[in-house]
Amino acid sequence: MTRMADLIWTFDALAEAAGATVDGTPGAGVTGVSIDTRTLAPGDLFVALQDVRDGHDFVEAAFDKGAVAALVRTDYARKPGDGVLLRAGDPLAALEAIGRAARARLSPDARVIAVTGSAGKTTTKEMLRACCARLGPTHASEKSYNNHWGVPLTLAKMPAGTRFAIFEIGMNHAGEITPLTKMVAPHVAVVTTVVSAHLEHFGTEEAIADAKAEIFLGLKPGGAAIMDFDNRHYARLSAAARAQDGVKVTPFSGRPVGDDQVMNPARTGHGIVQLRHAHEVDGQSLVTAHGQSYVLGAAGAHMVANSVAVVAVLKAIGADLGRALPALAEFGAPEGRGSRSRLAIGGGEILLINESYNANPASMRAALDAMRGIDRTAHPRRIAVLGEMLELGAEAARLHTGLNDAIDAAGIDLVFATGPNMKRLFDLLPEGKQGGWSETAAGLEEVLAGALRQGDAVMIKGSNGSRTWQLVAALKKRAAEATTA
Ligand SMILES: Nc1ncnc2c1ncn2[C@@H]1O[C@H](COP(=O)(O)OP(=O)(O)OP(=O)(O)O)[C@@H](O)[C@H]1O
Ligand SMILES: [Mg+2]
Repeated sequence: MTRMADLIWTFDALAEAAGATVDGTPGAGVTGVSIDTRTLAPGDLFVALQDVRDGHDFVEAAFDKGAVAALVRTDYARKPGDGVLLRAGDPLAALEAIGRAARARLSPDARVIAVTGSAGKTTTKEMLRACCARLGPTHASEKSYNNHWGVPLTLAKMPAGTRFAIFEIGMNHAGEITPLTKMVAPHVAVVTTVVSAHLEHFGTEEAIADAKAEIFLGLKPGGAAIMDFDNRHYARLSAAARAQDGVKVTPFSGRPVGDDQVMNPARTGHGIVQLRHAHEVDGQSLVTAHGQSYVLGAAGAHMVANSVAVVAVLKAIGADLGRALPALAEFGAPEGRGSRSRLAIGGGEILLINESYNANPASMRAALDAMRGIDRTAHPRRIAVLGEMLELGAEAARLHTGLNDAIDAAGIDLVFATGPNMKRLFDLLPEGKQGGWSETAAGLEEVLAGALRQGDAVMIKGSNGSRTWQLVAALKKRAAEATTA
């Protein structure tokens, strides 16, 4: 039985928010909202969206799995097993309307945070989720649900009693962030970093910076704009934020920037939140920033920088840092974004750093740079397994070969590579560092597994489409077989 407290929408409120007509006899309300029958939970409202596939083909499956209602187009023909139908002209527009109603009903004390950037959105969002959960009821985007349906879905699922809400907002084209940030109406908007991702659709990095800066357009009056002081586009981003009435600019920096910079309010707005010190111990970071010392359960300068952005956000919402920041000790890198595991392989144990979820030039450099902190005594060899960085357009070849210096600086001993642009990089390496190249990720499995030795630290990274995650899965499978054999 559903308790009233679990309801996120009564049927009356839902139908009114959605501007939908109700077909059927509704119960009390819904306990969730879903657009995907594979993850739908009993009690959910199922929203039939037209995306890669037409959600209307899945209404029956939704009711089978326990949906209490489905939001469908007006012309949808009821089927025998269907329950309550909410009918609207355009289900996506109706979902957006539900999202706006969810935002509007939050208490004025609630604090809403929006996060965008070329890399680090999910990581920063998850750090904020962990910290805010120490302070009060917290709601945040699932996974990387950051697009034209992900943002309204996250809003629609937000319980009325939420005190802290954190939204990931992404984009592939100019103009996409504007309607999403206006829906979210954040008190704090963060741009984690701006780099050459999606250059294909933009041409220049400046155009990418402008598209990210759209996030400030949704800020509530008096809200805070947070961005990386060390980014090439800092001046551009902070000017865009200042153009918004009453917006407070609060930069963060993942390095100690020095007091003369801090004393320059024209550049640092409402005071910079900067790193004082960071020290890596066994995959964790001991960090001091903005007068606070905390443990971060993840390693790498980019992870530390994300955590400093989190400090800046928490400061902007007036949070008790001493209560919130200890949550970061338990923060491990999300799966595929720097998560670490030890695998029984190569006649001993290796350290696997799984970065296979995605890659662009900045995140690739960050992941290589993070290898520098790995202890040489425990892990004598540093191995990088690199897949293609996709969607880089005309700059692709240069951005791949350009990683050579990062490989050098990180002290990488051996490189395995897959894909045509990575071949160009691979060919530049000294012979002793060439572990192996293959057209496909799967083609690397044998040579990689054969090369591994006790103690190796292995970092695997590529754009999702380069399928380096297949290698992660293959190594884990081999390790599991080795331990059960
Ligand atoms: N501040 C940062 N600067 C550069 N690289 C970063 C930063 N934070 C995380 N990364 C790298 O980017 C990768 C992706 O991180 P994350 O999933 O947090 O990004 P995202 O912006 O949510 O990506 P997506 O656009 O795919 O949703 C991580 O594996 C990590 O290597
Ligand atoms: Mg993400």
